[in-house]
Amino acid sequence: MRDAPFPQADLPRLPPAAAPQLSIVIPVLNEEGNIAPLVERLDAVLSGIAWEAIFVDDDSTDGTRAAIAAIGAGDPRVRLLHRIGRRGLASAFIEGAQASLAPFVAALDGDLQHDETLLPRMLASLRDDGYELAIGSRYVGGGGLGDWDRRRAGMSSFATKLSRIVLRAPLTDPMSGFFMIRRATFEQAVRNLSAMGFKILLDIVASLPAPPRLIELPYEFRSRTAGESKLDAGVLRDFVLLIADKLVGHIVPVRFLLFAGVGALGIAGHLIVLRLCLTLFALAFPTAQAIATAVAIVGNFVLNNVFTFRENRLRGWGFVRGLLSFTAICSVGAVGNIGVSAFLFGPSVQSAWWLAGLAGAVMSLVWNYAVSSVITWRRA
Ligand code: GDD
Ligand code: MN
Repeated sequence: MRDAPFPQADLPRLPPAAAPQLSIVIPVLNEEGNIAPLVERLDAVLSGIAWEAIFVDDDSTDGTRAAIAAIGAGDPRVRLLHRIGRRGLASAFIEGAQASLAPFVAALDGDLQHDETLLPRMLASLRDDGYELAIGSRYVGGGGLGDWDRRRAGMSSFATKLSRIVLRAPLTDPMSGFFMIRRATFEQAVRNLSAMGFKILLDIVASLPAPPRLIELPYEFRSRTAGESKLDAGVLRDFVLLIADKLVGHIVPVRFLLFAGVGALGIAGHLIVLRLCLTLFALAFPTAQAIATAVAIVGNFVLNNVFTFRENRLRGWGFVRGLLSFTAICSVGAVGNIGVSAFLFGPSVQSAWWLAGLAGAVMSLVWNYAVSSVITWRRA
């Protein structure tokens, strides 16, 4: 039998629990084995502090949410934000922080690689010493990279140097994903965030109107004992996009720039294939041009699928359907392109041939981008 929807009158009145002073936002993706040990460690290290942990899970396929729910059922300090059809460490942190009301918010990995024993010192720096941002750094005295190999260490140090282009604050470790920030400071950045990829600290600092008062605390990056790293070839692309978005994102969307770059590559590929077909295989021009066009469309589709719309990458049947819709959209774009440029070149406007040609090409580029991003690579 079902009860009335809101049987509140029958519930006992409980005193409200203390509101959390510190929210620890923990992005997780398939970290089943790390949840319980992490909460135990937080509980041990944060005694005397009103804290909560907000796990932000991007639809893990293992038992991550079940592990969180099992603890949360008996511990109101443990919360879950379950996102579907979304991905990304940076946006996970942002949404977790926005779901919290605490005056201090920390970012912590859910795989035990960050040193949670630093949290009380971070909190003291913000609450008692007036800092706005406390960062766990691997590059100040006493910190370290743990078991990272030379390749990964080299990549991290290269990215750190690259980030100087957009950073106005002297951070030794802008790649760190371990920090604590005042809510008020976070609020100053939140509307300017790019929310792309992995590097949320860099994003926040580059989005603030002025460099924050910050302190760096050393820690040693631990090695992973359970689960796997989510770092793949996409993080480099995400990082470059983040930097580009910080530089020009207020003028033109960086995803559009990627799409245009892929288009330019497509034109180059088209010409190369055309030339090969004509000279090497001695095909008739219409045949050669048809082959080159097909190669350019498929090539553009594949590159856009891997780079431009990586978050919504199509696989299996989705890939085939996507290729068909992309081809259809580009065909309409080509017809519009010819129409616009013929009109501009024609008797009533009489613009220069290159201006007419360029205008047609830009028009179809904008069309192809706008329509394929909502139809071919629409978000799940
Ligand atoms: N919700 C969500 N969504 N969580 C994610 C995602 C995602 O798309 N990708 C990764 N995570 C979670 C992981 O489950 C883990 O808890 C944490 O984010 C870090 O991911 P790892 O894949 O373990 O990253 P890492 O160890 O290679 O990188 C770490 O080191 C960097 C230092 O350069 C991260 O801590 C970075 O934050 C840090 O900057
Ligand atoms: Mn990790």
